[in-house]
Amino acid sequence: MREEDHVAAARAVYDASAERYVEFVGTEISAATEATVDRSMLTAFVDLVRTAPSTRVADVGCGPGRAAAFLAAHGLDVVGLDVSVAMLSAARLAHPELSFATGRLDDLPIDDGSLGGVVSWYSAIHTPPERLGAAFTELKRVLSAGGYLLLAFQAGSGEPVHRDNAHGTGLSLTSFRHSLSDVTRRLEIAGFEVHATALREAELDHETTPQAFVIARSL
Ligand SMILES: C[S@@+](CC[C@H](N)C(=O)[O-])C[C@H]1O[C@@H](n2cnc3c(N)ncnc32)[C@H](O)[C@@H]1O
Repeated sequence: MREEDHVAAARAVYDASAERYVEFVGTEISAATEATVDRSMLTAFVDLVRTAPSTRVADVGCGPGRAAAFLAAHGLDVVGLDVSVAMLSAARLAHPELSFATGRLDDLPIDDGSLGGVVSWYSAIHTPPERLGAAFTELKRVLSAGGYLLLAFQAGSGEPVHRDNAHGTGLSLTSFRHSLSDVTRRLEIAGFEVHATALREAELDHETTPQAFVIARSL
């Protein structure tokens, strides 16, 4: 499948800023970067995946492997995937015991129905709303029936936020504040049943918008 412009833009920016991202966010899920609700959704996802046909999971858009490490520490068999080579290098350096590979939300190097869970932790934020359906269809393809998807994203009404100097790289990148109701509607069209949603107010120092979380079950 042809790579789209929003993917190329995200790769260029994260390749150029991976080191800075790690300095700012770190390589682990922690209370400094994830609020109580966020961590509770990750924990709920782990418990749900334990009831799925497989405990093999993917962290898609893994960045430096923070969610991947959390999932592995909670007993899941995880692979981290990303479009950014520099982010994958940072992930391998921080978590040498885990496996990481190149992969895109809408084109994953994973067999049909082979996973019990997929996490997209702030990685669909550069995908325009009208392209989310293609990503959700691909995530559904790799999940077994009864497998779970966990999404996290900055919430809004789908508006684009364009930055000309994203992460100080001098490169431009657009983020989308996805609408929670639009996301759940697109998940249902792709063949998911929405299991739980959470929407919390901005709470951490770096946040300016509400944060949304969705757990959906593959039918
Ligand atoms: C904001 S960072 C989040 C990284 C990580 N999930 C975390 O929480 O630290 C967004 C990540 O998603 C990746 N990404 C963006 N678009 C992607 C796509 N279409 N497919 C896979 N990865 C993507 C970027 O390269 C980057 O590593």
